[in-house]
Parts: sequence; structure tokens; C-alpha cells
Amino acid sequence: MRGYGNYFWGLYELRSQELERNEEDDKRDDIGISHWICTANHGFAPYAQEELRRLFGAVKSTVLIPGEVLRVALQNSAEQVIEAVSSSPPVFLRHLFPIEWEWHGEEGGKLEESIEKLAAFALADPRLQGASRIAVQPRKTEQSLWEGTTAELKDTLQAKLSGLHAEFVVREADMILSVFVGREAVYAGISRPEHNISDWNGGAVRFQREEGQISRAKFKLLEAEMTFGIDFRAFREALDIGAAPGGWTSFLLERGLTVTAVDPAKMHPSLLNSPNLTVLRKNAGEVKFQEQQFDLLVCDMSWSPKLTAKLVSELLYALVPGGTAIVTVKLLSKKPMALIQEVIDTFQQSRMQVQRAKQLFHNRDEITLYMIKY
Ligand SMILES: C[S@@+](CC[C@H](N)C(=O)[O-])C[C@H]1O[C@@H](n2cnc3c(N)ncnc32)[C@H](O)[C@@H]1O
Repeated sequence: MRGYGNYFWGLYELRSQELERNEEDDKRDDIGISHWICTANHGFAPYAQEELRRLFGAVKSTVLIPGEVLRVALQNSAEQVIEAVSSSPPVFLRHLFPIEWEWHGEEGGKLEESIEKLAAFALADPRLQGASRIAVQPRKTEQSLWEGTTAELKDTLQAKLSGLHAEFVVREADMILSVFVGREAVYAGISRPEHNISDWNGGAVRFQREEGQISRAKFKLLEAEMTFGIDFRAFREALDIGAAPGGWTSFLLERGLTVTAVDPAKMHPSLLNSPNLTVLRKNAGEVKFQEQQFDLLVCDMSWSPKLTAKLVSELLYALVPGGTAIVTVKLLSKKPMALIQEVIDTFQQSRMQVQRAKQLFHNRDEITLYMIKY
């Protein structure tokens, strides 16, 4: 298992040393730098940039959407960047795509011409010519060179790319054509879905709200299931801490688990007759369970992160070795990276191995930890 002794520094320093040691990569570095459109949740782009700096050293960036989207130049080849980001998955960097084609408004010429040129670039690319399923993922700034909607831009591009004889899909594509239209420039790149961190457009994971859905919080667990590849049906008995009104509890019940929900606040009435649910209307500091009663522990308390870590740690006797924990951590601090490290340290001292720490698209001012007890 991967060591998260120091989640941020250890891994990133290790990655940097590996990057430095590889002579072939050094030669590629001499050839050039790579350029990217990088996206984080709103307000968290500075932390995504700091993650890139720790991985790759110097980062030159231009803001395209404040706090959210950056155009970034890195002193490494695209292959190195993809490799490093895959082996040290970032917490805040939600999505990236390589800039392989760009057009600047001030160079003169009309936007329509630029779209023609962009289509010509895509049509000539062997990666798209060889793909049977292509996703066209356009995004734009609010005041952008493209005045229509992104849906219209997508339709326009797909019509121009019909000569590729590929099926245009939203998900599970072989290749993605990513396009970002800013105020002054258009950027595009072609990449494999797994190389963009997320195969959703800009990493924005969209779920349909279900009829009678109890809370939006449910989307966080749905996204954790998909992003971390967790098979919730494989668990037997779950403890849900800070469960009310019950979005996560309803998700766990739907996956066939027996659930104990702990919260002083009321659970949604629609859940109360569930035969597989026990509700304890208590503070999580006051409850007692059997040793190793649960094989899954989830916690979404929206509370002080250090107190959450302490409280959850004190309940870990009730989780079997090999059991999974999913915990959201509020980022109340101005130094979120130091805070995350502190919380991870607390969990590691309680025999928890951190599998992933990630700000999911549905996390607002928080991140999600996915851990396994050893
Ligand atoms: C964001 S809500 C949880 C939403 C829930 N995951 C869902 O899907 O509906 C946070 C909940 O944590 C509960 N909470 C806060 N501190 C707690 C504590 N010490 N013990 C138990 N629950 C707590 C609050 O009462 C609140 O209902």
C-alpha cells in the first residue's frame, strides 16, 4: 500500500526526486515545457497550483476564471506530468487537459475562422481518427469570445467533426477533445479520459437529482463511490456519524447495508420505517458499540476538522481491521494543506491507511478522506 507518512511533502518530494533521476525525461525536459488548462473547485485553484508547484517545481500560470481555472506552463513533458499526476493523485486539482492548439483573438481574424482551424486540427489528429467514441468537452468563461452556449459550441464542433465517423458520447469515450474559450483565446487538446484526472467535462460531476432525494449530501457519497471505485454492496454493516437528515444513510440502505445512524438532529421521516436502520439521536461522543461491529464507517459532520478526527478515531474500535472509512473534512483554516496533514496524522496514529484525500466536485469547503483500517 502507498505510504502517506506526510501526504503532501513526502509524496511530492519523492515524485520530484524521481522526475529528476530519470535521464530520458531530463532530455525531454530540454526539448520543452508543457501547457495545461487546470481546474479546481471554485476558490481552490491556488491550492491546486501549490500542488503542481510541489510536484513539478516552477509553475507559470495565468488566471482564466478567478479561483477556478488556470492556464499553466510546467517545466516537464506532457508524459511526465500525466505519469506524476496519476501516481500522486492531487487533492485540489480536479481536472486538467493539455493545450495542444491555441488561437488568440488579438492576432486578428474571426472566431468563426478559429473554430474552422480548431476543427481542422482535430480532423487531422490520428488519435481522433482512430477513436470510435469521442467526447467533445467545451467550456467557456462568462464573457467569452464564444457568445453562444457551450451546448451550441459542442453541436457546432461535432457537426464539423462528422467526417471522423466516430460516435460522439458524453462518457466512456476513447478520446476527449477538450476546448476552453476564454475572453481572448481559445485552447484545445486531445487526451485519453484517464489522463485528465476526471473524464467529466472540467471534472464537474453531474448527477440527476432523484425524486424524493433527502439531501444534496447524497451526491458526495455517489461521487466517492465512482471516483474511488468503492463497491459499497460488498459491505455488511455501516455506522453513519452525523447522519441527519439522511442522504448518506439512504444511499447505504439502497446498497443493501444495515445502517446505524447517529445524530442528535432528526432523520427524514421517509427513512424511519426502514427495517435495516437503527437511529441513535445522540451526540457521537456519547455512543457505545461492540468491538468490530461495523465494516464501514462514514462521517459527514460538518464540524471542526480536528474534533471530527478525534471523535471518529475514538470510535474506530467499532470498525473491523480491513474496514473502510469515508470522512469529510471541513477546511475551516486559511492553511488547508497543513490542516489536512494534521487530520491525516491523527487518523494514521489510529491505524488508518489513507487511500485517497480528494476534494470531490460535490465537496464545498471540504475534502473527502477514503481510508482503510489495518
Ligand atoms: C452536513 S449534515 C450531514 C448530512 C448527511 N450526511 C446527509 O447525507 O443527509 C451534518 C450533520 O452532523 C450532525 N452533527 C454535528 N456534530 C455532531 C456530533 N458531535 N455527533 C453527531 N452528529 C453531529 C449535525 O446535527 C448534522 O445533522
